[in-house]
Amino acid sequence: MNIQVKSGEATSVTTDMLVCLGYEQEKTWSKVIRPIDKKLGGLLTDLRKSGEFSGKANQTTLLHINGKLGAKRVLLVGLGAWETMTLDRVRQAMGTAVKRARHIKAKGMACVIPDVPKAIDKLDQVAQAMAEGMLLGDYRFSEYRTDHTEDRKTLQSCTLLAPSSASQARVTLGAKRGQTLGEATCFVRDMCNHPANVMKPSRVVAEAKTIAKESKIRLKVLDRQHMKKLGMGGLLGVGQGSIEPPHFIILEYSGGPKTQRPVVLVGKTVTFDSGGISLKPSENMEHMKADMTGGAEVLAAVRAVSRLKLHMNVIGLLPVAENMPGGRATKPGDVLTMLSGKTVEVQNTDAEGRLILADGLAYATRLKPACVIDIATLTGAAMVALGNVAIGMLGNDDALKAAMRQAGNDSGERVWEMPLWDEYFEQLRSDVADMRNIGGRGGGMITAAMFLSKFIGDHPWVHLDIAATDWSASECACFSKGPTGTGTRLLIQYLINRANGS
Ligand code: BES
Ligand code: MN
Ligand code: ZN
Repeated sequence: MNIQVKSGEATSVTTDMLVCLGYEQEKTWSKVIRPIDKKLGGLLTDLRKSGEFSGKANQTTLLHINGKLGAKRVLLVGLGAWETMTLDRVRQAMGTAVKRARHIKAKGMACVIPDVPKAIDKLDQVAQAMAEGMLLGDYRFSEYRTDHTEDRKTLQSCTLLAPSSASQARVTLGAKRGQTLGEATCFVRDMCNHPANVMKPSRVVAEAKTIAKESKIRLKVLDRQHMKKLGMGGLLGVGQGSIEPPHFIILEYSGGPKTQRPVVLVGKTVTFDSGGISLKPSENMEHMKADMTGGAEVLAAVRAVSRLKLHMNVIGLLPVAENMPGGRATKPGDVLTMLSGKTVEVQNTDAEGRLILADGLAYATRLKPACVIDIATLTGAAMVALGNVAIGMLGNDDALKAAMRQAGNDSGERVWEMPLWDEYFEQLRSDVADMRNIGGRGGGMITAAMFLSKFIGDHPWVHLDIAATDWSASECACFSKGPTGTGTRLLIQYLINRANGS
């Protein structure tokens, strides 16, 4: 989808559908919409008065206006209450709008930028959220369908109407950024939607190769032999049951001074998690094609920092494997020697994410990192603890956690912290090795993070558990059914904020 920015009168813009966003309990329409209302002879005000349009979040009313404006139709979308307004409401309203546009087979739409409360009154942020909402709401995945009639209904262009020509540059800046972040999320959704017989470890390597063509990115891929030499027992152990060989991908973006320490991102990339010998139940097992979400998000983030030309150094690490049972597979009770030198008793081969991440984190410590962030569909316990609303966050550095919380609020992909107290390690004690890879019944998200913490030393580190947020059971404003790509915008927003020194 092509996103453009124009300034000028909303009443004269020619488009299939003009979108006007309105708040709940607004007495009069905001000044950007009043001229439209006037041209329509007060129709919008009448709809308010009669209660037909209340402005509740994501409520819509579609009007055919018979040539009274440049636009063929007007779509009213509710933003909810002014007092509790957030940027995420803007995203959702725009996601709702594009879905309506697609429904009526509109080829183009235009949208007036809404007034927002002072606290979020940054025009570029509003424009960014609008662009993100449009791309997220418009997303669909039809690669494996043979009937493409639905695709032909695609909305081709969206125009954001800047409130004045003086503001056009700010709006354009925000819209560009929003486009980059929205496209990053859609890239992740694509990767996760591909079935695991296509998105194999080798295909992830191919995707990384494509990304390495962007400017200032270097790629290194370690094969099994190289991994053996280094002693990556965790990744090798998880990958050994599959006929698809594991890989370790290193993507390096150098946008900052040579001496500047890099931010290192580590993403869990299990292209299919069958559970291994500790086989999962078959119900919903197909969701485990998305167990590479973390890795896809790291790829997307590295691509985005390059496209945004951020002045910083970022390294992305992807331990990539398929977790399968088989004659060579790791068995419960096996002991692995990890890259860090520590030994792990594998009591459950389905707790594989922490094994490959442990090697990723140990590798990260060798890169003189400024900080390390890992992101992973790590535990079903994340769903029990937080439901599918918040991303679980655990880490060892207050400043890094605070910055992540800020990026969460900015992006709408919010994080919630869980404790990482020493007592939790008791659950991970093994009778034969330095630790085992599963804890007891309680605190599963925490014991998984506790396990990881043993491989990062005292480098500033944050772990993000996206197991509960990575899949949507239903279609809503900014999601389609299936992979959500949640966490992508969080990571990139964190990097943008960091590059801006905030
Ligand atoms: N990939 C799963 C976690 C997961 C579950 C992601 C559901 C998305 C949806 C992970 O590898 C896993 O199997 N974790 C186990 C750990 C347990 C064996 C300690 C789990 O959470 O059940
Ligand atoms: Mn598993
Ligand atoms: Zn897994």
